Amino acid sequence: IEYDLVIKNGLICTASDIYPADIAIANGKVCCIAKNIDENLANEVIDAEGGIITPGGIDAHVHVDEPMKLLGDVADTMEDATMSAVAGGTTTVIAFASQDTSLKGPKALSESVGKAIALYGKQTLYCDYALHLIIAKLEKDGLAGRDILGEQLETLYADHSVTSLKLFMTYPGLQMSDYNILNTMYNTRKNGFTTMIHAENGDMVKWMIDSLEEQGLTEPYYHGVSRPTIVEGEATNRAVTLARTMDTPILFVHVSSPQAVDVIRKAQTDGLKVYAETCPQYVLLSDMDTKCHGNHDDKFIGAKNICSPPLREEECQKRIWQGMNDGSFTIVSSDHCPYLYSDKGQGKHNAFKNGKNGDFKYIPNGMPGVSTRMPLLFDYGCLRGNLRSMMKFVEINCTNPAKLYGCYPQKGALLPGSSDADLVIWYPNDIKTYKNRPKTITNALLQHACDYTPFEGFEIKNWPRYTIVHGRIVYKEGMIIRDNAKGSYLPRSKSSLCTPDGDWLTEWRPIYAK
Ligand code: URP
Ligand code: ZN
Ligand code: ZN
Ligand code: ZN
Repeated sequence: IEYDLVIKNGLICTASDIYPADIAIANGKVCCIAKNIDENLANEVIDAEGGIITPGGIDAHVHVDEPMKLLGDVADTMEDATMSAVAGGTTTVIAFASQDTSLKGPKALSESVGKAIALYGKQTLYCDYALHLIIAKLEKDGLAGRDILGEQLETLYADHSVTSLKLFMTYPGLQMSDYNILNTMYNTRKNGFTTMIHAENGDMVKWMIDSLEEQGLTEPYYHGVSRPTIVEGEATNRAVTLARTMDTPILFVHVSSPQAVDVIRKAQTDGLKVYAETCPQYVLLSDMDTKCHGNHDDKFIGAKNICSPPLREEECQKRIWQGMNDGSFTIVSSDHCPYLYSDKGQGKHNAFKNGKNGDFKYIPNGMPGVSTRMPLLFDYGCLRGNLRSMMKFVEINCTNPAKLYGCYPQKGALLPGSSDADLVIWYPNDIKTYKNRPKTITNALLQHACDYTPFEGFEIKNWPRYTIVHGRIVYKEGMIIRDNAKGSYLPRSKSSLCTPDGDWLTEWRPIYAK
């Protein structure tokens, strides 16, 4: 016996190739890919029956319950989210750990993230996870804030191998001034961190919310009206300008606005390291889904689909698909942020109680999606012709996230000898019926703790048949296999895509002191 597992008769699909072959797995790693591997050398054999085999998905934008609860009561624990992930073919999630602003000094950010790792260490995890830092506030004003952040990021990397952070240009309490964005970019450049930016002009949003409220326009639908595409376009353009000034690579998260895509495309053409992420909801849902379709008794139903940036007019979807195909978008993530609808509707986030009458301003932003991302992009992207190829599917869902966030080729690839045996065997693309093969998306299919999916009732032509993590089957034909859940924290390297060019020095962007 040489192998723990051999998968026969697969159609292997990576970011660069698609070809029939067998895969052998030993010690949790991809060990060998060849035309005909002897099944007698294996402890266990799976017949893929001609089904496509891809690397497991990497969902690089996932919110789960975290110690700081900066975004409120997210329904999924890391355990829930990793279970839901593998039920939809994702084998690595990168979630967020928020800065604890009560902590000060060089170790403050390291300790913030350390608390999250300690919390998740007590949970049963179905796949590996990594963490981005959410930066909520700089500790000091002026350049003193820059200098303390520099020390804090260095310590964070040394202690936990975190190599990315997210900053916000919107949300009361999180919105960062341009001055502090420069302070942050100075340090992410210096420390080789990937700088993730939530680009919406928070002041514009605030003014528009006030103006809509003044007119009594407060139903869920007006959440989108209060954050039009131009708000995202403006902030994206400003962030590119700041990044250009500091020669810092950046990544725009959850991009939905065609104006923003235009700005990003232009910056890329100018040779800047500007990357972008979009999400399935921005090509498959629209602003109409924040209305009360089919259920005029429930004026709140649109609250399920409230997220920021908001769902756009249907016409915008084409531009987002195009951006996935032409390389404007480097990755697709879910922005999984599950709030219970029962909470949005009647519970602690209740926008009806306390005289708030369903005002969109009080509805938490976000929707679940860690499980549906891969199958939706497979079907609505590849099978229906919106994505150019299966290779493109693997590139944006698996391989590029690994490169962008410093875990390639351990993750996001099927390189013998190098890659973890994290992979998905899809159902054969024929009409034959298999046990538990889903035909439509239902909430029960998704194995998360949330009480709805925005994709309920969506027809689905394929779904992961087996999800394998470190060579262990964690999901098989609709069943979660808890005994094989042995995921853990994933330390990362610095991004191979976010290296600064370092050839343009000015008086205000000096060579860093050693
Ligand atoms: O509406 C969203 N996207 N909620 C999650 C938080 C964020 O901004 O990513
Ligand atoms: Zn965001
Ligand atoms: Zn309606
Ligand atoms: Zn998010």
